[in-house]
Amino acid sequence: MSQQDRFKEAAAEAAAALLEDGMVVGLGSGTTASMAVAAIGKRVAQGLKIVGIPTSELTASQARSLNIPLSTLEERPAIDVTIDGADEVEKGTLHLIKGGGGNLLREKIVAVASARMIVVADQSKVVSQLGSGFVIPVEVIPFGWQTTEQRLQKVGAHPKLRLRPDGQTFISDGGHFILDCAYGPIPKPAELQRELDSIVGLVEHGLFIGIACQAIVGGPDGVTTLHRTA
Ligand code: A5P
Repeated sequence: MSQQDRFKEAAAEAAAALLEDGMVVGLGSGTTASMAVAAIGKRVAQGLKIVGIPTSELTASQARSLNIPLSTLEERPAIDVTIDGADEVEKGTLHLIKGGGGNLLREKIVAVASARMIVVADQSKVVSQLGSGFVIPVEVIPFGWQTTEQRLQKVGAHPKLRLRPDGQTFISDGGHFILDCAYGPIPKPAELQRELDSIVGLVEHGLFIGIACQAIVGGPDGVTTLHRTA
């Protein structure tokens, strides 16, 4: 296991340790969230009673393999806490970029249905300004996606259609395409969010503004908890 993976695992285990009997728990997607699901699976095997709401088909299948009881937003619309990863976490605001794994739509639906969203990450994800090193994944309807791409270019994005390793177009769990939009540093993420929200053909984007309340970050000195201060 790499040092980065050890940092991710430490954060994931610290977050899983916060869960209590009776909670409805949003289960995130990505490598760090999957370590959290593994840690939650261990606690469930030891008797923890929770119900999970998965944010992707892959997470659902991992949770089932660990005997974590699952439900749906239809049955359990109020989630107590969601534990999920992020591609970038902005210090202070805890605004996020998510969607590197292509699950941003379900991740955002689950996160906003949650009383608390806790981010788990290694220290490399913490930045002073969003856009420092990562693109914004934007999920779009396949119909006429090239025209949606043009509208994104008009608001300053440099979109690139996401492909799978075999060269085929990446398709999200919801059946949509992903345009990875390079912006460079994003000084006013809430303004960009408003612009993106108004684009026709865009289903959802990976800017998570004012949603996370806490980030558990693994690093060489162990685990640090960041709280939203701005
Ligand atoms: C999945 O779509 C993403 O939002 C992930 O949460 C994000 O990409 C972080 O993934 P890792 O934990 O694998 O870096």
